[in-house]
Amino acid sequence: KRAQEASDYEQMERAAKFFTHQLRHHQNSSQVIDYLKGRGISGETVKQFQIGYAPDGWDGLLKALGTDQRSRQQLIDLKLINRNDQGRHYDFFRDRLMFPIRDRRGRVVGFGGRILQGDGPKYLNSPETRIFHKGRELYGLYEARQAYRELPQVVIVEGYMDVVALAQAGINFAVASLGTATTTEQLQLLFRATRQVTCCYDGDRAGRDAAWRALENALPLLHDGIELKFLFLPEGEDPDSLVRKEGADGFLQRLAQAQSFTDYFFSHLTDTIDIQSDAGKSLLLKQAKPLLERVASDFYRQTLMERLARLLRREVSQLSTLIQGVATTKL
Ligand code: UTP
Ligand code: MN
Ligand code: MN
Ligand code: MN
Ligand code: MN
Repeated sequence: KRAQEASDYEQMERAAKFFTHQLRHHQNSSQVIDYLKGRGISGETVKQFQIGYAPDGWDGLLKALGTDQRSRQQLIDLKLINRNDQGRHYDFFRDRLMFPIRDRRGRVVGFGGRILQGDGPKYLNSPETRIFHKGRELYGLYEARQAYRELPQVVIVEGYMDVVALAQAGINFAVASLGTATTTEQLQLLFRATRQVTCCYDGDRAGRDAAWRALENALPLLHDGIELKFLFLPEGEDPDSLVRKEGADGFLQRLAQAQSFTDYFFSHLTDTIDIQSDAGKSLLLKQAKPLLERVASDFYRQTLMERLARLLRREVSQLSTLIQGVATTKL
């Protein structure tokens, strides 16, 4: 099994090399490079992230790496090659800009591919394989760790291009969850790598929903000394578009003003509640309770309790009684 894993990583690395080679030498090369230029990405950044190109046509990778039955089967297992009903094999990624996803140790475990033209999903990600588990990897974490002895902070963003554009601007501590909500496992991974994490998702409905889900997932992981913040972007912007508009300084200024998780916690919960009314107060209590119970750190739970008590115009001691009451009467 060890031997197979080692061979899998080697094959993924060969695939990454194949894609970077295609970016320089394929007949479409100049269009793809123009696309990258159009997005403000320099050759240096392309190299840093080993961005590549999966050629159009059906069997570029297959021909290059699937030279015998065994390696063809391996490419199928690694989901780089598909097999259709007629038993024909073809490349999974075609005519896409390719982002290799590296694990903690720098091994390529999967790819993200952005469409360059035509129809189809904008991004395709490698499906799960025996070496790739989306919920456990973060795009850009390996690259960010390379840049620091100890990561001072991390910004979690939604997309590959957000990570790459921020790095291009000199902000080389961004990582992306891979087309899913940020999972508990990803947050765990991050809190082991740094003490300060800021969630900065797209300025749209999906991004705001993702932020709240990240907060919920983070509650059991917040231990003392760890800071979690939230940066909300103007409607329609994502970190890529914003850093190109406002520059690194603009982005860093926003980052410095990111909301603490406690501020966000209550601003979100009271968003649609009138806390002047008793009905509103009791609803807030009911909604906050199960969340408070998930907070692992006594200190953070206490901080939230004090804040909640102020909002409800109660003493913390009264609040404790109320919360126990909520528990026993199952409001
Ligand atoms: P977005 O939908 O925000 O990408 O998806 P975008 O900002 O419009 O893309 P660009 O800037 O034009 O390139 C953010 C992330 O969500 C996942 C990918 O990981 C992507 O980076 N995603 C998005 C998918 O997995 N599939 C999709 O079809 C779209
Ligand atoms: Mn989009
Ligand atoms: Mn989006
Ligand atoms: Mn986006
Ligand atoms: Mn974008």
